[in-house]
Amino acid sequence: MEFSQVIKERYSVRGYKSDPVEDEKLNSVLEAARIAPTAANRQPFQVIVINTQGRKDELRRMYDRDWFVEAPIIIVVCGEESKAWVRHDKANYGVVDAAIVMDHLILEATNQGLGTCWIGAFDAEATREILGLPENVDPIVMTPLGYPNAASRGTNRKPLEELVRYERW
Ligand SMILES: Cc1cc2nc3c(=O)[nH]c(=O)nc-3n(C[C@H](O)[C@H](O)[C@H](O)COP(=O)(O)O)c2cc1C
Repeated sequence: MEFSQVIKERYSVRGYKSDPVEDEKLNSVLEAARIAPTAANRQPFQVIVINTQGRKDELRRMYDRDWFVEAPIIIVVCGEESKAWVRHDKANYGVVDAAIVMDHLILEATNQGLGTCWIGAFDAEATREILGLPENVDPIVMTPLGYPNAASRGTNRKPLEELVRYERW
């Protein structure tokens, strides 16, 4: 798929078929995550791939929506803050890195005909417990991964004039 088509076709998929995701497609999605840029190339992230089959009730504790556990796979991007690049004024870029990783893998998923939905409103405590995360690792964002069974809600966007300034504020 042309890149410009990929970025136009991606939308938040909130309904999935139970059809499995082929290994090759999952691998290309994970490869897109691997090659994502990170600040100072620290790569302070881990991607956790979860198969939902037989675990739906447990996984709903992370994010309680039917469609979240409908997909055969859930991918969680975790960050290790202590390994991330820190600016001189102490701003930690770990969350930025994790977001870029998620965006890369989501766009490759779209390219493969797969659906995704950024999830930030998950229960972090339940997620930590279910995934057995060590204290120094934070769940930052997650997405279901599977074949779409729901159309876009057609989310509006602000026009460019409201979003872009030139030269200064
Ligand atoms: C960082 C982030 C967190 C989000 N968290 C959630 C979420 O918890 N639940 C949800 O249904 N959608 C979530 N979304 C999806 C947004 O609501 C969605 O991207 C936005 O409304 C634009 O719609 P679109 O993705 O279909 O273009 C999140 C998106 C981003 C970028």
